[in-house]
Amino acid sequence: MPQSIRTAPQSIRTTPPSTLAVPQSIRVSQQSIRERRNQSELRPNRSEARSDQSSAPLSIRAAAWSIRGAPQSFKTRRCAAPSVGGMTLRGKTALVTGGSRGIGRAIVERLAADGARVVFTYHTGKDAAAEIMSCVPGTVAVQADQADLETLDAMFEPLDDGLDILVNNAAVSSQIPIADITEAEFDRVLTINTKFPLMVIRRAAPLLRSGGRIINVSTLNTVVPGPGLALYCASKAALEQVTAVAARELGPRGITVNSVSPGATDTPMFRAANPPAVAAQMAAITALQRVGTPDDVASVVAFLAGPDSGWLTGGNLRATGGLIV
Ligand SMILES: NC(=O)c1ccc[n+]([C@@H]2O[C@H](COP(=O)([O-])OP(=O)(O)OC[C@H]3O[C@@H](n4cnc5c(N)ncnc54)[C@H](OP(=O)(O)O)[C@@H]3O)[C@@H](O)[C@H]2O)c1
Repeated sequence: MPQSIRTAPQSIRTTPPSTLAVPQSIRVSQQSIRERRNQSELRPNRSEARSDQSSAPLSIRAAAWSIRGAPQSFKTRRCAAPSVGGMTLRGKTALVTGGSRGIGRAIVERLAADGARVVFTYHTGKDAAAEIMSCVPGTVAVQADQADLETLDAMFEPLDDGLDILVNNAAVSSQIPIADITEAEFDRVLTINTKFPLMVIRRAAPLLRSGGRIINVSTLNTVVPGPGLALYCASKAALEQVTAVAARELGPRGITVNSVSPGATDTPMFRAANPPAVAAQMAAITALQRVGTPDDVASVVAFLAGPDSGWLTGGNLRATGGLIV
């Protein structure tokens, strides 16, 4: 049932992107943000999971799987190919960072559905990565910690034959007032969100074939900043600048470089930062009257990865459903 939001809690008025001005007394359906993924889940056999504690790429290990019901969570992302997608990426190889959940997972599934072979990274989501590999043909998972540049090498081991599409998606959020920012936090956020993706581009560039694509996932917060988001906004704004420069540098080789800026998108990162009432308010101020899904963003990434985006480079597509227009 539609519910009426009349009085926002204090925290809502002071937190971005939750901080976007939201008219009080907005009638808004919260149904879209309450939707959950289906209840079934693939998980590794417990004994197999216990016996294999190594951090080696999952691609080189066999796993036994069992299907069981699971409580609703973001681990329960369906194990099925997206209903959209053609074979526009047949014969292409893609590298997607942070493919174990959220937007990254949707990108992995979509690019694979479009025919690409997809190498993706995970950080802590070993089970989720294994699940994706088990049910999305043509995917290979590699562990990486973007706080540690030494993990870069492992990402490229499965890419000896070259690369067509790079999606820099993995990132961390950070909500700290400037007064409380430490050097260590600055280094952590800027390393994970900016330095590592830049080094991935540097490493990937020689491997990228003509017609190649680089897509960096930024955020609408670079144009809608708010208190507490200095490091997050700075890290993503820098990535947008890297995008523009890389477009200039790689254009002569026929490689396009663009960024995608999602708006409010229903993922673990989003839910951790935004209680349901805030999500409802964001839906209310969005032109399409709902929060985005990971698949919404993956569709935009797939367009940029595909053959129809060849004349777009150095740009930034806002995948927001009209959160700002
Ligand atoms: N959700 C939104 O509303 C929204 C809005 C604007 C922009 N974005 C951007 O969209 C992208 C994806 O966001 P999301 O909401 O899908 O985030 P998410 O649900 O938190 O997923 C983050 C992904 O990044 C990986 N990751 C996190 N820390 C890492 C590290 N230190 N090293 C390597 N990988 C790491 C995670 O791996 P594990 O799970 O395996 O640890 C996971 O696969 C990010 O760039 C984010 O800034 C999101």
